[in-house]
Order: sequence, then structure tokens, then C-alpha cells
Amino acid sequence: MQPLLQTTRLAAGYGDFQALFGIDVEVGAGEVVALIGANGAGKSTFLKTIAGLLRPTAGQIQYQGVPMAGMPAAQIVGKGIALVPEGRRLFSSLSVEENLLIGAWSGRPGRWNLDTVLDLFPALRQRRHHAATALSGGQQQMVAIGRALMSNPALLMCDELSLGLAPVIVREIYAALPAIVAGGMSAIIVEQDVRLARQVSSRFYCFQEGRVSLAGASAEVSDAAIAQAYFGVEA
Ligand SMILES: Nc1ncnc2c1ncn2[C@@H]1O[C@H](COP(=O)(O)OP(=O)(O)OP(=O)(O)O)[C@@H](O)[C@H]1O
Ligand SMILES: [Mg+2]
Repeated sequence: MQPLLQTTRLAAGYGDFQALFGIDVEVGAGEVVALIGANGAGKSTFLKTIAGLLRPTAGQIQYQGVPMAGMPAAQIVGKGIALVPEGRRLFSSLSVEENLLIGAWSGRPGRWNLDTVLDLFPALRQRRHHAATALSGGQQQMVAIGRALMSNPALLMCDELSLGLAPVIVREIYAALPAIVAGGMSAIIVEQDVRLARQVSSRFYCFQEGRVSLAGASAEVSDAAIAQAYFGVEA
């Protein structure tokens, strides 16, 4: 079966600085794939390149079998790829509801709308008219996820959902993931907590200094192999 997303020898960077070197990643329809790797390994750069926020300098991005590299970010959202960015990036002067509605501008049809997102995260319903920044960190992350869902993506990409959040809140947020992907959506999850990343995914890729150092089935890989791929040293 054709993967939903496939990158081939993908390279990208910032000016003269190359951050990704020949990345081959595949995401199947309905699949949850985890991206792990140390700080600076290139995980966010990879997601930004898929989302069209960075232009690849080499390689291919195939989405639904069609080349997509170089397409403008807005068009990529319209095709069904949504990014929950590192650091959430909510509009601080807007309410929770307004932040969510911004996610719907692409007009893609699907199961996600204001009501279904507020059902998914009931904590947001009673705060829907509050300024987004008046919320706790965990609730702000729910808004960021909800905003991405409002575009009814086929592929949801989440960059470090757990950043700065207490473990109990992280659990609560990840508890929503099965309901999110139940409709057949695919997801790429960047997660620093390797145990958690493996729990929520069927396959993983470990990035190290801009390259894939290890890939495989999340349930089968050994901790020692991960440690080696993560740090490049024997555990
Ligand atoms: N805006 C930028 N300008 C220049 N270099 C950048 C920029 N953003 C990231 N980099 C560099 O690109 C490399 C990859 O960074 P990236 O943010 O993709 O890593 P990451 O795996 O997401 O790390 P983290 O776990 O810290 O979020 C790093 O060397 C980083 O310093
Ligand atoms: Mg990052």
C-alpha cells in the first residue's frame, strides 16, 4: 500500500547551515509514528520542512503519492497536513474559541469542528471565552492541538506536546490521542520521553545529528539499541 507520506533523501537547513541530511521516513494511513532524538537532532526541522515552513534543499516529499516539496505552507494545510508547533504559538490576544476557529480557515470538511474539539477537551469548553494565555500550560497545549484538528488533517504532526508540562498533564493530553486517530488520521509525534513515544506509536525513527540513526517497530526495539541510536554511544 502506498504510504500517506514518504520522504526520500530529504535535506533542509537554515541558510548555510544544513540540519537534515538525507532523511527517509514513511508514514502509513492511520499510523502513529514517533520521532525521537536528542536536542538539535533535527526533529523540529523535519516537521517544519513537511509543513512547508522550510524549503527542502534536496530530496523528495511525496504526500498521497504526489510530490509536495516546495509547496507553500497554506496550501499544505489545505491538503490535510497540520502542525502543532513547538511552544504552541497561540494568539495571545484571542480567546480559546477564536484560536480554535483560526484552525478551520482552510475549510476542509471532516469530523472536527468547534463542538467536537470541545468534547475532546472538556476543560476548554468552560474556558472558551477566556484569553488563551490565561489558561494553564496543559490547557494551552489542548488549544494548540484543537486548532490543528480544526483543519481536519489527514496527518497531524505534534512537536513536543509535553514540553514544560507536569507528567500528570502529559498523560492527560496523550490520553486523547486514541480518540484523535480513531477516525483513521495519521500522526507524527515528536516526543522527548522515549518510553511515552514508544507507547503511543507503532513505529519510530530516531534522529541523530540530522540523520536517521535507527528506525523500527516501537514494541520490538531494545532500550540498548535506542540509547545507542539516541546518543551515538554504547549504553
Ligand atoms: N531558526 C534556526 N536557525 C538556525 N539554526 C537552527 C534554527 N532552528 C534550529 N536550528 C539548528 O538546526 C539543528 C536542528 O534543530 P531542530 O530544532 O530541528 O532540533 P530538534 O531535534 O527539534 O531539537 P529539540 O529537541 O531541542 O527541539 C540544530 O543544530 C539547531 O541549532
Ligand atoms: Mg525541536
